[in-house]
Amino acid sequence: MIFAANFKTHHTRSSTRAYLQTLQTRLQDASTDHRVYVFPPATALERYEGVVTLGAQNIYPVVRGAYTGEIGLDQVEEFGIKTVLIGHSERRSLLGETQKKVAEKFAFFQSQGFEIFYCIGEPLLVRESGDRAVIEHLRAQFEGIDTDYTRLIVAYEPIWAIGTGRSATVSEIATTHAALREMTDAPLLYGGSVKQENIAQITAIDGVDGVLVGSASLDPEGFYRMMCC
Ligand code: PGA
Repeated sequence: MIFAANFKTHHTRSSTRAYLQTLQTRLQDASTDHRVYVFPPATALERYEGVVTLGAQNIYPVVRGAYTGEIGLDQVEEFGIKTVLIGHSERRSLLGETQKKVAEKFAFFQSQGFEIFYCIGEPLLVRESGDRAVIEHLRAQFEGIDTDYTRLIVAYEPIWAIGTGRSATVSEIATTHAALREMTDAPLLYGGSVKQENIAQITAIDGVDGVLVGSASLDPEGFYRMMCC
């Protein structure tokens, strides 16, 4: 299984270090074969050798240049980072990233050989319109995306389930992942209020290859417990 922690705008450089140390110790002791990723804020990225892979939550699709406030390839390559998260709904809705921009980022980091966690998800209104509307919405989020890319990992994250405490139901996840399986061979993660209370149920769903976790990943012990349930 893939377990990915998305810190968003939580943790600092020093607390990320402490987090990784705790998690690394736990994982080593347990010798788990899960693939574990942590996406800290950009200020906490660093060269890290361990069983956890560090990734960037966001980068601008350039090597370097005049893009105030952004980081590019040079800034992450300094730390050997080769994994990136693209298309998170918070970037799409709060930061105004269009499908075109998301696809541009995807193409750039694909050309650089990055492992790409690509996020898709529907708003509540679409979910309430039924499975077909959901699938069409998700299909549109694959526009301009090479779904055959071998280093692609797709994260299905219904927007209404993110940070709300209300995860999608087992049947909603199973149905959606089955439809996504028709569109790509990439590993399929579920994200949206994944926590210790529902992790066993979610990872047992056929077609779920892992999880992308926000709030419940912020404490390393809690995140680790999710992996050994
Ligand atoms: P959440 O966030 O686990 O806090 O719902 C998930 C995400 O946004 O990736």
